[in-house]
Amino acid sequence: MAVKPRETFGSRMGMLLAMAGSAIGLGNIWRFPYTLGKNGGAAFLLLYVIMLVFICLPVMISEYLIGRRGASNPFRTFDKLAPGSKWRWIGFIAVLASGCILSFYCVVGGWSVKYLVDAVSGSLMSFGGDYADFFGAFISNPWEPLTFTLIFLGITGLIIAFGVRNGIERMSKIMISVLFVIIVLVVIRSLTLPGASAGLRYMFVPDMSKIDANTCVAAMGQAFFSLSIGCGCILTYASYVKKDENIAASAAWISFFDTGFAVIAGLAIIPAVYAIAAMNGVEPDVNAGPGLVFITLPGVFSSMPLGNAAAVLFFLALLLAAITSAISLMEVLAAYIIEELRKSRAMAVIISFVLCGVVGMFCSLSFGPLDGFKLFGLSVFDFFDYITSNIMLPVGGLFLALFAGWRLKRANFIDELTNGGALKMPRWLSLTIYYLVKFVAPIAISVIFLNCILS
Ligand code: TRP
Repeated sequence: MAVKPRETFGSRMGMLLAMAGSAIGLGNIWRFPYTLGKNGGAAFLLLYVIMLVFICLPVMISEYLIGRRGASNPFRTFDKLAPGSKWRWIGFIAVLASGCILSFYCVVGGWSVKYLVDAVSGSLMSFGGDYADFFGAFISNPWEPLTFTLIFLGITGLIIAFGVRNGIERMSKIMISVLFVIIVLVVIRSLTLPGASAGLRYMFVPDMSKIDANTCVAAMGQAFFSLSIGCGCILTYASYVKKDENIAASAAWISFFDTGFAVIAGLAIIPAVYAIAAMNGVEPDVNAGPGLVFITLPGVFSSMPLGNAAAVLFFLALLLAAITSAISLMEVLAAYIIEELRKSRAMAVIISFVLCGVVGMFCSLSFGPLDGFKLFGLSVFDFFDYITSNIMLPVGGLFLALFAGWRLKRANFIDELTNGGALKMPRWLSLTIYYLVKFVAPIAISVIFLNCILS
């Protein structure tokens, strides 16, 4: 089969929005607010931002730099940059991790499809009962969530089938812009509810006594998950980036957008939870876990004016955000299958769909018929979430930083960072980045892990 020249992103804006689209997703709107709620609010946020600068930004720069230099799928990239070494198995594990993440991601993506459908038809708001029952009945039913999971995965596959420019880049541009407008509308609605300020205090006034070793692992896992780093997603997208992009600036922009968006999503949710609790005279329950968005929010929407419109907009936003992230995960698998197994793009999509569909099925059923089945004491869904976010991604990030900092050599690192010297970057800046990658990030990741194991 003749090898076609590799695709690239069409424009700088398209590339940035595709990467931001990968980063901004369920991680920001669904996972961030409940992880923040579980881990003590503002103190968690503070920890998150510190890790962002000293760990995640260096790891993202490493992943981006390796990806652009290798211009291949993760497996081949490591083989090109370190021929014949064992490093390529890191690439392979990254592909595997992406598949594991997509497998549980598409279950929550399916829930968003269901909630959007019900919000549009009006049945979500007219339910009238306790939304914990609504959610519980839905996820424990074997067929309905499974159907929605496969619909979500199907939409993702369809976009990937259209390729990098016509599929990924075009859809991300449209979706991220719409998403932004919607979420700002929901924030305005949330913040203007009486009693919202208690939620703001919870989000922004830290109580340091809430921090322990587990909070640190949770914050690190959340940061890796939210930024899409550690499993070859950024690496794969970077392989479609032209050689004249400023890597450090792009990485900084993407992290900034992503974190800003997580805070905005928190602002749409937490103050509303406080306001409605105050209205009903009960304690606010920000600690509701994965159900926060699906249980608490419909309750919030149903007890406020313009609730139905807010619900439709919110679940549309959730779905758009989920799709732009899911495509980045499937593209890692697709790029691997296309380049290593020499299949067409269409075939690669079908294979990815089937693999993730099967594993996703177990994740989805773990809320229903497979409820009692546990792996290391966790349900199938929680197991995949836990091992990927809290272990595989940080370990992947550790190896990416070690590779960029130690294996690539300083001259190559600086050469790639400055686009072969074409980019006028102050020497102190490129060296600071290099040492963050070489020492600070790997040591910090190791210390957080050790601290958790030993405590
Ligand atoms: N970052 C996305 C989110 O916040 C999810 C995601 C996409 C992801 N690609 C990834 C997470 C790669 C980890 C690794 O929803």
